[in-house]
Amino acid sequence: MTNQYQPLLDDFTFDNGISLKNRVVMAPMTNFSSNEDGTVSDSEVNYYIRRSKGAGMVITACAYVSPSGKGFPGEFGTHNDEMIPSLRRLAESIKQEGAKAVLQVFHGGRMCPPDLVPDGDVVSASAVAPEQQTATGEQPLPRELTDEEIQSVIRDFGESARRAIEAGFDGIEIHGANGYLIQQFFSPHSNQRTDRWGGTIKERMAFPLAVIDEVKSAVKKHAKEPFLVGYRFSPEEPETPGITMDETLLLVDELAKKQLDYVHVSLMDFWSVPRRGVDDTRSRMEIIQERVGNKVPVIGVGSIYSADDALKAIKTGVPLIAIGRELIIDPDWVQKIEEGRASEIQTKLKKDAQHELVVPDALWQAIINTPGWFPVEENQ
Ligand SMILES: Cc1cc2nc3c(=O)[nH]c(=O)nc-3n(C[C@H](O)[C@H](O)[C@H](O)COP(=O)(O)O)c2cc1C
Repeated sequence: MTNQYQPLLDDFTFDNGISLKNRVVMAPMTNFSSNEDGTVSDSEVNYYIRRSKGAGMVITACAYVSPSGKGFPGEFGTHNDEMIPSLRRLAESIKQEGAKAVLQVFHGGRMCPPDLVPDGDVVSASAVAPEQQTATGEQPLPRELTDEEIQSVIRDFGESARRAIEAGFDGIEIHGANGYLIQQFFSPHSNQRTDRWGGTIKERMAFPLAVIDEVKSAVKKHAKEPFLVGYRFSPEEPETPGITMDETLLLVDELAKKQLDYVHVSLMDFWSVPRRGVDDTRSRMEIIQERVGNKVPVIGVGSIYSADDALKAIKTGVPLIAIGRELIIDPDWVQKIEEGRASEIQTKLKKDAQHELVVPDALWQAIINTPGWFPVEENQ
């Protein structure tokens, strides 16, 4: 019997030869559960093991590339070679279950809680406080990075790529989304520099593109086997001034020239439409997919709860879809589709199922204490 969801289950091969067993990717999700010293914890590893059997590729929570970039309590690090055994443990745990393992790396910039960075020295493109709060509720006024410091952070991204390779990951995802340092350089809200790193849109793109070049050259130098390099971005910002859809399309044009293995559009809703900047009523995902064409594979994400949601999303022509909250709510999401049991997929979180779902305490507490973040089953 043919499976009506087969387009989700078809394998996928990247240009560099790495193959995924299906089109479903686990979205990167911070879990607040790593050890104080930046190593991964047992509960975190168990959480990934529980979710790595079904998806073709698992992207980890974001990990900081420099001590000054730690953005969350309980986040793991890639900032020195002592982290390699911890990274290896994570990569192996994911790969043993059958998924490709991709490490997401970032620097939190002005979104870092001062308590988490050395000397409380929060840094960014410019000294502009965020409108959003950090993970622990502050809106710190950051210090503007010097040119030398910018180059040092760029090198930290390259070093993290080397460590990811040495740890056995299949790839790295550069986190240029969700308001963190890379996006802070692209954003006219947080970047008010007038040197080579800010000013025109071309200069605002200089930091993101330099990070990509550095990571790609580290991969060229150190990887002995094919290794994926992906880039994640948020298409728009709510702030004024802020990134607009037309600016993002220009960034997308540049990303498409960088020979990335994929680009990943960070959204909470796959079907959301542009806020401003283009005269187009289609979804952001459709506009971006059309602009990219077949230059680089795109991962789409956001509120793809059911198998039907996923089928509808993949039929837009996006080759890969990512699911995040859905895999916390139902770790067997993909297997149920494979086994013809798609109707049994859970789309609402059961509030008493933490242990059954293998979710670390800190992540569970964050979910339960943030109303509206996850759909929750009523009558419990
Ligand atoms: C608990 C949680 C943590 C997240 N952490 C990250 C992260 O570390 N990096 C990132 O790029 N996106 C992060 N996101 C965003 C997700 O990758 C994804 O874009 C978003 O949840 C929408 O997809 P979904 O509807 O499938 O959950 C996080 C989302 C959640 C729910």
